[in-house]
Amino acid sequence: MKLWTGRFLKEEDAAANDFNASTAYDIRMWKQDILGSMAHAKMLGKQGIITDQESADMVIHLQEIYWDMEAGRLAPEPEDEDIHMFIERVLTKRTGELGKKLHTARSRNDQVALDFRMYQKELIGNVGLWLNKLLAVLYQLASTHQDTMLPGFTHLQKAQPVLLAHHLLAYYNMFLRDRQRFMDCLKRTDAMPLGAGALAGTSYNTDRDYVKEQLGFAALCENSMDAVSDRDFAIEFLSCAATAMMHLSRLCEELILWSSPDFGYIEMDDSYATGSSIMPQKKNPDMAELIRGKTGRVYGDLMALLTVMKGLPLAYNKDMQEDKEPVFDAHDTLTASLSMMCGMLSTMTIKKETMAASAKSGFMNATDAADYLVSKGLAFRDCHEIIGRLVLYCIENGTALEDLSLTELKQFSDAFESDIYDHISIPACISSKKSAGSTSPDSVKMQLAEIKEQMGY
Ligand code: ARG
Repeated sequence: MKLWTGRFLKEEDAAANDFNASTAYDIRMWKQDILGSMAHAKMLGKQGIITDQESADMVIHLQEIYWDMEAGRLAPEPEDEDIHMFIERVLTKRTGELGKKLHTARSRNDQVALDFRMYQKELIGNVGLWLNKLLAVLYQLASTHQDTMLPGFTHLQKAQPVLLAHHLLAYYNMFLRDRQRFMDCLKRTDAMPLGAGALAGTSYNTDRDYVKEQLGFAALCENSMDAVSDRDFAIEFLSCAATAMMHLSRLCEELILWSSPDFGYIEMDDSYATGSSIMPQKKNPDMAELIRGKTGRVYGDLMALLTVMKGLPLAYNKDMQEDKEPVFDAHDTLTASLSMMCGMLSTMTIKKETMAASAKSGFMNATDAADYLVSKGLAFRDCHEIIGRLVLYCIENGTALEDLSLTELKQFSDAFESDIYDHISIPACISSKKSAGSTSPDSVKMQLAEIKEQMGY
């Protein structure tokens, strides 16, 4: 039987019952719901709202329900509208009158806010662990590729050569910020809403601080109406997830390009690639493509909740039941994607020679050649012009800057000397970078050392 039938003369329509129910997905929060109820029951006893005996009995029975759930001995019935109704119904079935007292000084509105915040704290923990793993994989890979050179691109046109370690550490920094963002989101998730009641607070002599301590929250939600109607902690989680997926998607795009035979910079391990049902030669980077594709779905999760919340008057509205699935979906998608990314990166073959050969073409030493002329006293704009004409000459003659003779070079500028060749080899272009955070081997070594110190690797 429903727990709110008193005011009703007729049964709920069966389809309306199904439409209204959230048990199918909020069952994921069963642990939080029971733990929240245990803390609430203890508080009711401590405050003399129910007797100590009643409180102790309630806690014991809730503990048994917890164990039954854990062992898979208990499952919701179709009549259970949500996880809260389900647990309360089972408690009441097992304890009779006692179970009916659990909901004293509480509403499902503050209860769901509590469960959801507790659950999201756990989700943030999971995401944090996966981000840590990915950071470690990237650090490891960067450490072993401190002398691997490849082209750096702008506009997907070859621009300047870089070290693979430097390229990977760029992603390291993105995922580090993602982790910081989630940790920051945790601060605002970590506030305890119970005691807000339906919206106005409760007339019982409750002790919200006690419940907060019992459940390990850092703070209390300060305003009862905000406590039951705020979902920006969930929107923030989704925004962090969307940003992390965007970073994963960019890395996937590169892995997809790099593993295409025309690039040939990497080869995916067989365990993270798939074949074609018609073309026997194909080896497709499906995992990377799926992460890129699933990024769209996580953006959708964020948009869904932003849109659900935008027109809601205070305080609770049933629309807000639509808050949980996007968060669950974003968490599941992000953690699965992080796991796939760790697997792909740590198993793929990096083809150093192909990368290095690719770094040799495309006139990526043109900027360094211009800088060389600046060092001989010319103005940068003039140097840019001279090297531009030289590049055109090379294109017309099918050659490269470093393959021109000094006589040929001198036709474009007298400032060229024989030391030009030391300045425009690909390793020289990389090593010459002096600014902090650059791609030079020394800078990359410093970046790695700093990470090692910060992360304790
Ligand atoms: N299942 C509901 C939700 O997820 C719980 C809160 C219901 N509150 C209410 N006043 N009907 O939002």
